[in-house]
Amino acid sequence: MSSDDQVVDIVVCLGSSCFARGNSEILAVLQQYAQSQGPNASVRLAGCLCQDQCKQGPNLKIGGEFHHNITAAMLRELLQQLDGSTRRSHGEA
Ligand code: FES
Repeated sequence: MSSDDQVVDIVVCLGSSCFARGNSEILAVLQQYAQSQGPNASVRLAGCLCQDQCKQGPNLKIGGEFHHNITAAMLRELLQQLDGSTRRSHGEA
């Protein structure tokens, strides 16, 4: 299992506005991604309440950095980048 300092937190806004703007699709992509990682997952998923940035939703944070107006395609790209950076930090690339 990954140690905590190698784990990236992904926090999805679960507020009603972000949900109405499509974050259910975002959650599905994240769940699929987490399952594909198995027991050595380098990400930790969490939800949060409204972040008062509803107009820019769906919103999520990856490693503390806000991302706005997220679509499933954008998220897949971000996760690919994340995969690349975590592999490099694990000495796999
Ligand atoms: S509901 Fe997500 S920022 Fe408000």
